[in-house]
Amino acid sequence: MSYTSLTHLKVSYRSRALFLLISLLALFTSNTSAAEIKDLKLERFELAQQLNPDINNGRKLYRLCITCHGPEGWGTKNGSYPQIAGQLHSVIIKQLGDISSKQRGNPIMEAFTSPRVLQSAQDVADLAAYIAQLPMTRNNGQGYFEDLSMGKQAYEENCSKCHGEQGEGQIEDYIPRIQGQHYNYLMRQFRWIRGGHRRNADKKMIQQVQHFSLREESAVMAYVASLQPAENDLAEAGWSNPDFPHYDRRWAPSSPRNKPLNQ
Ligand code: HEC
Ligand code: HEC
Repeated sequence: MSYTSLTHLKVSYRSRALFLLISLLALFTSNTSAAEIKDLKLERFELAQQLNPDINNGRKLYRLCITCHGPEGWGTKNGSYPQIAGQLHSVIIKQLGDISSKQRGNPIMEAFTSPRVLQSAQDVADLAAYIAQLPMTRNNGQGYFEDLSMGKQAYEENCSKCHGEQGEGQIEDYIPRIQGQHYNYLMRQFRWIRGGHRRNADKKMIQQVQHFSLREESAVMAYVASLQPAENDLAEAGWSNPDFPHYDRRWAPSSPRNKPLNQ
């Protein structure tokens, strides 16, 4: 290894350590009392849905999330970490609330939704708004189906009335945008929802997907992963988030256990 690449490596470790340190400090420095925390836990997420967001505060808070979801919010192509960029803000708030109250088991992320970190409904609203306006990747993880017509048909019969024709979701009903999401993440969530491991899952959706065979499941998810978000919502080729110029993008987080986390 040459001298220059060695120095680069050092800097990259340093910047990574710095971001982790910032996250940890935020977790442990707070002057909120235990009683206040209980109230905050219940209220923050419901209230957040109605507030006017401040994107600048959201940008600062997003530092807490980038070690896993990446500075662009694109997660990892292998689906261990979902793309959250461009997700509907009402959905982000709902999912953060569900993770915080353990309705959606996600122990590795739960601490980051605690009132010690997101201290107010305003923080939650600001962070969700920042993430929602991030442009989405053009390069999400795809499935293995070459002939997507079977997936398209299954999607139109079983999913589009809730998730929308192109998988764009619905803000008012907290239905996630699923277009352009990583295939492996979609497959995992679909299984957890169908099997009841994701406790916040939509009951009607659970019924709707019970009869799916493995082949149909991977066909429909390959189709969803192939659905392109609107051109305006996609990042330009080669774009990286200018809000985090010093983050070393060659580093990717290792994969967590891919088992239902709430069992
Ligand atoms: C330690 C790693 C880690 C950190 C830090 C982290 N997340 Fe996550 N997050 C995950 C994982 C893993 C999942 C997917 C879990 C699963 O498969 O159900 C996830 C899921 C999510 C989801 C649900 C996505 C969806 O499509 O339903 C949202 C929203 C989210 N994270 C937002 C955030 C925000 C905001 C922060 C910062 C406050 C954050 N995350 C910090 C690991 C992390
Ligand atoms: C009755 C409405 C409805 C139908 C039909 C439905 N869904 Fe859903 N789906 C939802 C809702 C609501 C959620 C979010 C649940 C929650 O809050 O956790 C969801 C969540 C998901 C998720 C997890 C998204 C994420 O970001 O974590 C995936 C993947 C998904 N649906 C795929 C599908 C597919 C594929 C179909 C058709 C085979 C389908 N859904 C049919 C309402 C529906």
